[in-house]
Amino acid sequence: MKKYCYGICFLISVAINILFSIHLYVGDGPNQEISCRSSLTWSEKAAAEAEAVAAISCSGHGRAFLDGSISDGQPVCECYGCYSGTDCSELSPGCAADANSGDPIYLEPFWMQNAADTAVVISGWHRMSYEYADDPMMSPELDKYIRKLHSVAGNAITQDRYIVFGVGSSQLLSAAVYALSSQNSSSPSNVLASTPFYHLYKDQTRLFNSKNFVYRGDTNSWQTNNTDVIEFVTSPTNPGGELKKSVTGGKTIHDHAYFWPQFTPIPGPSDHDLMIFSLSKLTGHAGTRFGWAIIKDKDVYDKVLNYIYLANAGISKDTQLRVLKVLKVAMKADGKPFFEFAYNQMSDRWNRLTSVFSKSTRFSIQPRHPLHCNFFHQTRQPSPAYAWVRCERQEDNDCAAVLKAGKIIGQSGSTLSAKDRYARLSLIKSQDDFELLMQRLTELVSLENHNIEMI
Ligand SMILES: Cc1ncc(COP(=O)(O)O)c(C=O)c1O
Repeated sequence: MKKYCYGICFLISVAINILFSIHLYVGDGPNQEISCRSSLTWSEKAAAEAEAVAAISCSGHGRAFLDGSISDGQPVCECYGCYSGTDCSELSPGCAADANSGDPIYLEPFWMQNAADTAVVISGWHRMSYEYADDPMMSPELDKYIRKLHSVAGNAITQDRYIVFGVGSSQLLSAAVYALSSQNSSSPSNVLASTPFYHLYKDQTRLFNSKNFVYRGDTNSWQTNNTDVIEFVTSPTNPGGELKKSVTGGKTIHDHAYFWPQFTPIPGPSDHDLMIFSLSKLTGHAGTRFGWAIIKDKDVYDKVLNYIYLANAGISKDTQLRVLKVLKVAMKADGKPFFEFAYNQMSDRWNRLTSVFSKSTRFSIQPRHPLHCNFFHQTRQPSPAYAWVRCERQEDNDCAAVLKAGKIIGQSGSTLSAKDRYARLSLIKSQDDFELLMQRLTELVSLENHNIEMI
């Protein structure tokens, strides 16, 4: 009897070992994580090059890049504004703080902290074809992750919706105008937006100069009964950061570039006919040039897709691979580490900014209203990407010029179709840029109070 028992135990143990071995060497099938083999055959050199260039510190005030210029066989440091020298260590005294562009470098520290998970190695023969095996233009895997991302962030409904990728959301803005315009009508569709608004709506519509659509200006001054309207609804707005609804009742393009938890509380998922999102403001990868549209109607989807196909036969496959990699990291642990980091960054900048402006009567910034955020499960203040500054003194009717005299470069109100009494300051640039902005603002406000303080 004992011998019989030992025999059965031996057989069970052999079976378990076989199962473990199969699991170790074969894995769980196609969905397994790709395991790292110890002996790499062709990627080591590329990895060493990438690490070597990333290790160049540029004194923390610039970056060296693999595709940057080379001098004396060494990659050259590209210095942030106001810094110069071969290692970016020289700060030019009296340099103006440049808060003009919405270049979203504010998340660079997050990606440096997650260097190992976000590095991409691309083989020389990676996706040389125009097409994917199961889609001509878009990676089905990336489509899947974008839908998952919206369900994690709780900011958009994607079920039973179509998704189209574009070269940045900029390209999709004009594709959307084309797709919504009346292509058989004798009169063009009327393109409108509520001031202040992102300048590209007007500039692109005018550039394409189509007989099917024409830029008509501000929604508030549109008073005719003509219902053939295409309205850009920017929510949150650029520059103010407010959540907005359509005011015309016409066809809408919801530009949700900033509808992410770091910029605004997310009250619930957006469910509009045509919504556009941008990687640039979500993860900060503006240089990757990637955006996507979520579309309800099949006919509109076909038109947007056709536009992208005719414009550039789809989006770079290298870009799509990089976006996939970045989004996977952003979505780790249900997006908590990423969105917490991004939110803390923005809310810290807003705390410091409001403290400076609270001491001023000459300048004011937009009010912010707390709202419940379904992502953070808390009521939170918005922390918009831009400060919308109003110059309060009667004589200061060119606010950008007033700021410029104080060594601050902002965007004039008229660039955003508003009055020049306003100016926009970007809060999403690098930490260096933000520190200099704080310094210049403090100096300007201190002058006003005849009371020089240090921050
Ligand atoms: C409201 C808004 N929409 C779209 C864009 C364009 O973003 P992308 O980099 O995706 O083209 C921007 C960029 O600043 C923006 O502010």
